Formats: sequence, C-alpha cells, structure tokens
Amino acid sequence: PRVLCVAGARPNYMKIKPVMDALERRGAEVLLVHTGQHYDPAMNDVFFADLGIRPPDRFLGVGSGTHAEQTGRVMTAFEPLLGEVSPDLVVVVGDINSTVACALVTAKAGPLLAHVEAGLRSRDWSMPEEVNRVVTDRVSDFLLAPSPDAAENLRAEGYRDDQIHLVGNVMIDTLLANLDRAKASGILDRYGLTRGEYGLVTLHRPANVDDPEILAALLKALGEIAGRCPLLLPVHPRAAGRLGDVGVPGGIRLVPPAGYLDFIALQDSARVVLTDSGGIQEETTALGVPCVTLRDNTERPITVEQGTNVLAGRDPARIVSTVNRVLDDPPAPRRPELWDGRASERIADVLLAGAAASTRPRPT
Ligand code: UD1
Repeated sequence: PRVLCVAGARPNYMKIKPVMDALERRGAEVLLVHTGQHYDPAMNDVFFADLGIRPPDRFLGVGSGTHAEQTGRVMTAFEPLLGEVSPDLVVVVGDINSTVACALVTAKAGPLLAHVEAGLRSRDWSMPEEVNRVVTDRVSDFLLAPSPDAAENLRAEGYRDDQIHLVGNVMIDTLLANLDRAKASGILDRYGLTRGEYGLVTLHRPANVDDPEILAALLKALGEIAGRCPLLLPVHPRAAGRLGDVGVPGGIRLVPPAGYLDFIALQDSARVVLTDSGGIQEETTALGVPCVTLRDNTERPITVEQGTNVLAGRDPARIVSTVNRVLDDPPAPRRPELWDGRASERIADVLLAGAAASTRPRPT
C-alpha cells in the first residue's frame, strides 16, 4: 500500500522515523510530508540529520500562527496533497496542531487513518494538545496506544476493541536505537559538564512560559535548586524572549536548543531532569533518570506509576521540596512493558494487516 506519514514539529520526528522504516521494510510505499510547523534549523534540520530521516517528499511550509491560523493552513495545504498522492493510509503521530489538522482532512477524504500515540489523556482541557489528542483519536481508524492506561482510556470512551492496539512506545524505539551514538556525542565535554553533577531543565508550555508572573515564579524555584545542583537550560524558541524579559537567576545556564543525540546524552548523564515536556517524561523513564515534571497533571501517568517521573505542579515551594526529595532519594528505575524498542514493528504489522483487510473503497 501507499502510506503518507505526517510530521510537523520537533517532537514528531523521532516518532515517525521508526514507523516509516518498519513500513518500508515490509514493502510499503512510504511518503513523508512535513507541514513546516517548526522551521528553525535547530528545531528541524539537526533532527533530520541526527536521526537519518530522508528529506520530506512534500513540505507545506505553514510556519507559526494562532491555533486557528496554523491548523487551518495545514488543512488547506494538506487537502489537495491528499487528492494528488491518493494514499491508502495516512499516519499521524503525537498531539500537535499538524496532527489534528491532517487527521481531520484525512477522515473526510477517505484514506484510512492511523494515530500513533493514541489514548493519552491529561484531562486538562486548557492544554491545546488535549483537544488535539481527543479529536485525532475520534476520527482515526487505527488507535495505536503506547501504554495500557492509554488503551484503557480509549475503551472507557467507547472505542471498539478492534480499533485499539496496545503496541508500546515508538519514541523509545528511537531512543534505544540511538543511545550508543548519543553517548558518544561529546556534548558533555563541549559544555564542560560531569556526569551526575548537573540538572537539565526544559520549559516551553504556554501555561508555564507565556505569563511573566508564572515564569518568574518558576525561575525563582529553579534558582533555589541551582544552589544545590547547577542547572542547564536549552531554550525553546517560544521561551527565548520571555526568559530574557523575566531575568534568569545565577546557577542556571542558558544554551541553544540541543540536537537529538546531544539532548539524549544530556538527559542520560543528568542527576535530575526538570521539564514540562511530554516526551521527556518518557525518555527519562526509559533511561532511568529522575524526572520532576513542572505541571499539575500528565497524560503519561505510566511514567509516574512505573517510571522515574514525579509531578511537582507549578508552586515554587512545592517544586523545590519535590526536587530536594528526589535528589535525596531518587526513584528506582523501571521501564514499562512494551517500551522495548519494537513498538514500530508491531505498528507496521497492525497497519499492513488492517490495510489489506479493509473493505473501504480506495479514494479516487
Ligand atoms: C508545539 C506543539 C507542542 C510541542 C512543541 C514542541 C502545538 C499546539 N504545540 O509547540 O505540543 O510540545 O511544539 O516544540 O502544536 N517558533 C520558532 N521557530 C520554530 C517554531 C516555533 O521561533 O521553528 C516560535 C514562534 O514564535 C512560534 C512559537 O515558537 O510562534 C510557538 O510555536 P508553535 O509551533 O505554535 O508551538 P510550540 O510552542 O513550538
């Protein structure tokens, strides 16, 4: 079959790559479309190079904008492309605006639709990603769940058992496949860091970085933590200007966004990781590195129940006390079932069998 794979922003690339490879190994014709939601070289090109992803077959160049602008631009550009390419199956990953936009277009145009990372729920409707996840799942034919909690969420929402496939976590496929290369990246030497003697921080959620008061409170907490453990903060473009406006306490070193291999190396050697990202909660769990999540909720509860993640919320005093507790008594490393590096193989098997069995007429 012909399969159109969609990627649009940094956290998509390491998810789509192993799925493309597994499909191609089974003889599928795979095309990659990049929506252009992320466009800075540091958010894109370095990931394509590190992960060995071939240049996209199509580039939609949508760029930044409000949610409606960005989602609408992806939809408008993706619709004629679908008509032209006429795939049997479209694969979308994750929960970004590009994911939901291509899912909506596909659902109305006719090809089968697969969502990789289905069923994750924060139950926090103020998160744009929660809206994207729920809507994408709703219109998908194949719901590929990374963990049992995600499959259970889908069952509770009334999806049929034959739509739900518990396959494991593709992000961990890529992590395990690249870990040795990452460890050889040399980034620790370049930054003069010693394994186990620094904390790694990422901040990019609108709820944390868009309001100067909230960001200032978070930075105050990070400043206190830096007194005990120096912190390295690779800066996401969304947070770049705002961090400058608010002022960054001593002990926190700002650096440019890291590439894939460098960032895995930085996580792997960190004493603790502080983050508001989703994927980093998973990568730290797979690496067995303590993670403190600077959010009130998580759509990835398995990283708390079976991994190294602790939810600290956004209250500065609670963040400091949580990090102190984690530094004194780090959580034991455990890796969830099916986070074994083979999720994309299971996904390719499910999708090709499903496409072959489908009675839906091929779009013309
Ligand atoms: C998006 C995803 C988020 C994901 C994150 C990873 C949505 C709703 N959000 O958030 O789930 O965790 O990507 O990075 O899809 N910008 C640049 N260069 C770029 C891209 C963005 O400077 O290459 C700046 C622009 O000022 C832009 C802002 O970052 O307005 C936000 O970008 P956007 O794509 O809207 O969302 P992210 O915050 O990156």
